[in-house]
Amino acid sequence: MPAQNKDVLMSNKPQCVGIDFGTFKTSIVASNGNRDSIMTAVGLPKDHIARGMLGCDEVFGDRIGQVRTAVNLVRPFDCGALKYTDSSAAGLSADEVNRRCKAAKSIMGEVVRRVELGTGPRYAVIGAPSQASDEAKNVILQAASPHFDAVMIVAEPFCIAYGFGHLVGTLVVDIGAGTIDVCPMFGTYPKPDQQYSASVGGDAVDRELLSLIQQAHPDAQVTLNMARQFKEKFGTVSDDQERAVVVMPVEGVPTEFDITDIIRDACRVLVEPIIEGIHKTVAMSDPEFQAQLRGNILLGGGGSQLRGLDRLLETGVEKLGGGKVTRVNDCLYAGAAGALKLCMAMPAENWEQLRSQNAKAA
Ligand SMILES: Nc1ncnc2c1ncn2[C@@H]1O[C@H](COP(=O)(O)OP(=O)(O)OP(=O)(O)O)[C@@H](O)[C@H]1O
Ligand SMILES: [Mg+2]
Repeated sequence: MPAQNKDVLMSNKPQCVGIDFGTFKTSIVASNGNRDSIMTAVGLPKDHIARGMLGCDEVFGDRIGQVRTAVNLVRPFDCGALKYTDSSAAGLSADEVNRRCKAAKSIMGEVVRRVELGTGPRYAVIGAPSQASDEAKNVILQAASPHFDAVMIVAEPFCIAYGFGHLVGTLVVDIGAGTIDVCPMFGTYPKPDQQYSASVGGDAVDRELLSLIQQAHPDAQVTLNMARQFKEKFGTVSDDQERAVVVMPVEGVPTEFDITDIIRDACRVLVEPIIEGIHKTVAMSDPEFQAQLRGNILLGGGGSQLRGLDRLLETGVEKLGGGKVTRVNDCLYAGAAGALKLCMAMPAENWEQLRSQNAKAA
């Protein structure tokens, strides 16, 4: 190892990270300049043959796609369970809860390994849905505590806004895989009842798209994963978009289908919940700031990439008094980068207080 790198690794400088621990993907940005993003999933070998072939007990990131048939996939927050829905409401058995919590720990361990932190005290700010339950926050804390000296959990849209310095007069809409979170920025940390969360996101679009394809083209062989890929390639809410021609097998023979209208209809399931979220959060806000919030609506999260969404939302908010909608440029890292900025801005004594609070909660 070069001497300079070794000095950095051996210093006592705090090692700060921001983490967006999403339903679909986990992104991490560290104060040492490293960052990475992987699917929020772990692949477990299906049997001892698979285990021997893989040479490990857990598979992460891009490798999961390469060995998909040899592993069982565990997505700890699948369908929003343990993230914004409690295990009892999601109908998870105790075994399933354990399996998911273990997976969450493993994924957290993997992303922390990937950013190669040094020896100083380790602090993390981690994004959670605006109205995450105590159980959900506890799952995040349990997953993170083996890797950090102190952890702070912050609403995901707040992280995005903080990262861009939009602390006043901005309404952030985070369109993730599991939830749409809307958070107004007033220059201070918003209370849970000032924010809005809907249990609908990219996963719901994928399920709708799969179902619409199956109805329209019953002969086509298609999976949920294929539907997600079609959406990510052609996703739009507009009428005037390029044709979405995809290939799906029919009895094993690759066949082309035009699913332009189906994709648009599936993607539009997000529009009403977003407009409702904007309406409710604006209505709950100080009346003197409502116009300012509507005039600065910032879309983040993977779902913000749907073509035409900004224009369609502007049309939707016209009946609420009109507004302007823009989207963040780097939706993959916007939340994690904002969380890192928060992490680095927090004074050391506050981290020390959190360290003892975390220890009591554990
Ligand atoms: N180009 C794209 N067009 C439309 N949707 C996309 C695109 N790229 C990714 N997505 C979708 O964005 C979602 C993932 O977004 P994001 O990474 O913000 O979610 P998350 O943070 O994991 O979820 P959550 O915030 O709900 O916990 C997935 O549903 C994914 O399919
Ligand atoms: Mg998210």
